[in-house]
Amino acid sequence: MRKINLTFTLNGKPYDIEANPGARMIDVIRDDLGLTGTKEGCSVGECGACTVILNGDAVASCMVLAGSMQGADILTIEAMSELKLGNLLQESFVEEDAVQCGFCTPGFIMSAYALLKKNPDATRQEIREGVAGNLCRCTGYIQIVNAIENAAHHMREE
Ligand code: FES
Ligand code: FES
Repeated sequence: MRKINLTFTLNGKPYDIEANPGARMIDVIRDDLGLTGTKEGCSVGECGACTVILNGDAVASCMVLAGSMQGADILTIEAMSELKLGNLLQESFVEEDAVQCGFCTPGFIMSAYALLKKNPDATRQEIREGVAGNLCRCTGYIQIVNAIENAAHHMREE
């Protein structure tokens, strides 16, 4: 099968790769680029474990064809420790005990990052809505919303 050529920026680094035409974004990220911090849970757009940021928006990478990566600016969980807000979110998740098995955590952090970049003053309700597409089987969500709220608070203080 003829491959497609894709050029994009991922975590601040330029890429020029070939991918299978039917590949999904998560296939390229995890299998072709080896960035396995992005998790695959349901594969049908319902759990949010595969969330990445595509041109500023949180998207379920299991539902996006690789062709959408052409020319795009993409962030995955691997970039978060290098970015101020990403780092604050990761620290807050640990401080607030918002991580149990951890499978959902990268997706939540990516959704929270996209939300707070657009709306640093997000209310608790807006935070809940911002991560409504992410499912967690372990925590009961309260610690997760607390963690995002705290990260937003620290971000505003700095
Ligand atoms: S793996 Fe993509 S939404 Fe569940
Ligand atoms: S911490 Fe286990 S699914 Fe969220």
